[in-house]
Amino acid sequence: MTDLSRLDSEVRRRRTFAIISHPDAGKTTLTEKLLLFSGAIQIAGSVKARKAARHATSDWMEIEKQRGISVASSVMQMEYRDCVINLLDTPGHQDFSEDTYRVLTAVDAALMVIDAANGVEPQTRRLLQVCRARNTPILTFVNKMDREVKDPLALMDELEQELGMAICPFTWPVGMGKQFGGVMDLRARTMRVFAPGEDRAGGDEELITDLDNPAHESRFGMAWGQAQGELELVREAATPFEHSEFLAGHQTPMFFGSAINNFGVREVLDALVELAPPPGERAALQRVVAPTEKKFSGVVFKIQANMDPAHRDRIAFVRVASGHFERGMKLKVTRTGKDFRPNTVVSFLSQRRELLEEAFGGDIIGIPNHGVLHLGDTLTEGEPLQFTGLPFFAPEMFRNVEVADPLKTKQLRAGLQQLGEEGAIQVFRPMAGSVLMLGAVGQLQFEVVAHRLEHEYGVKARIQPCRFQVARWVTADDENELKKFIAANDHRMALDAVDAPTILVEYAPELRAIQENWPKIHFHALREHA
Ligand code: G4P
Repeated sequence: MTDLSRLDSEVRRRRTFAIISHPDAGKTTLTEKLLLFSGAIQIAGSVKARKAARHATSDWMEIEKQRGISVASSVMQMEYRDCVINLLDTPGHQDFSEDTYRVLTAVDAALMVIDAANGVEPQTRRLLQVCRARNTPILTFVNKMDREVKDPLALMDELEQELGMAICPFTWPVGMGKQFGGVMDLRARTMRVFAPGEDRAGGDEELITDLDNPAHESRFGMAWGQAQGELELVREAATPFEHSEFLAGHQTPMFFGSAINNFGVREVLDALVELAPPPGERAALQRVVAPTEKKFSGVVFKIQANMDPAHRDRIAFVRVASGHFERGMKLKVTRTGKDFRPNTVVSFLSQRRELLEEAFGGDIIGIPNHGVLHLGDTLTEGEPLQFTGLPFFAPEMFRNVEVADPLKTKQLRAGLQQLGEEGAIQVFRPMAGSVLMLGAVGQLQFEVVAHRLEHEYGVKARIQPCRFQVARWVTADDENELKKFIAANDHRMALDAVDAPTILVEYAPELRAIQENWPKIHFHALREHA
């Protein structure tokens, strides 16, 4: 096979996705079952055990342990049928939602898990908005059908309203809770009969192929007739599934099941392989990059401190955008123009970090480094490309940060610089004044930063209230106008980690007044590249 046709076939068999859900909907359980079905793990319980460990360390002073755990499980690669599947974990806690948003820029599809008793919940809604904004195709799994849950038609209606996209049921439940009989496959016109139990591999349940047999009515009781009635309505009302509409993010195929019972999971995995798209083109400032281009390119979408705080190295998670990555390759960082040759690069096969030999578009590679790589960096074989679309959100909470011991000011700055580069927090240097400010989207981020400053940089930081409440990055088409604006507002201007000028104000109405006075200045709540 020539290089190019190999590249083409490797890209075509990649599927890179994330699971989005509200805490407790069943993401961990489903992840584990997907790994189990693909043979990536042998024993049920290992992912859950890790989650339990994560929960057990609810004391935030145990953060190092936590980070270790989440590094290992943040990317999971598995093979299923003839596909290579990359499953990216999204941090569950809403205070880390910024990180989650960035992870979602690295996937080509999302699997939304809904707790059938709760319907669409806040965290799902937020994540969904990010997917919708990017037109990421979404598959929907309605979980926990073995419980007393919402009526499936009502749920479908709710999803349609909330998602603003057409819902196309691929399976339909017969009953729920104690009466849960199984799910019908609407395309194959078959039904899988529900059998509880966590230990089966799944897919070995009884399969009914003669749905018209009147005997089913007595076997499944009222649930049978009800499901038939619902299906009639669904057939009349539901939009017919069109693959192109799904790819455009206008339709979502919906599946019902019970992850804990391995039920309905294989159908989702099959759908992922059959329906979800292989890696597509990605936009850079300079041009659009196709995954089948020969030259390697990739973008850093996440940086995580390594498990060993003594070494202070970090892993940059790079989504391969194009080409063929090989061990020992020399890479150029567009932001600095510098070359570097990472001596170790890791993959995340079967949840173990392994030395990586090669990777293709859609894969995630981990590059340990000491600060060479920043969030949002583009890596290439030499072409000066800068990928866009990695979101940095204007923080919603601010604190002043000072050191208890003034002799440690340098360490504080160094520590904050690194934590800022990692995306753990946003750091602002005021243009007038010397007290650094921290910006976050969640309170927890301040605690994490204080803890890490102390344990990794030996700095006891005083994190104190700050008068600002709103931040906006500012730009202008006319450089002079921007200069004038900055000069007039220097008492509330700051520079962020990449020296982007930012205005900080105390109240939202104040911002509106400033915007009215300065019509030629653009105010951004979102920054999209390094
Ligand atoms: P998360 O990662 O989205 O937070 O959810 P997770 O998988 O941890 O599942 C949350 C809870 O829901 C767990 O119960 C899990 O066992 C349960 N669960 C997941 N799928 C199903 C299902 O299909 N049916 C039912 N009935 N329950 C399901 P827990 O009590 O919090 O934990 P555990 O004691 O089971 O470990």
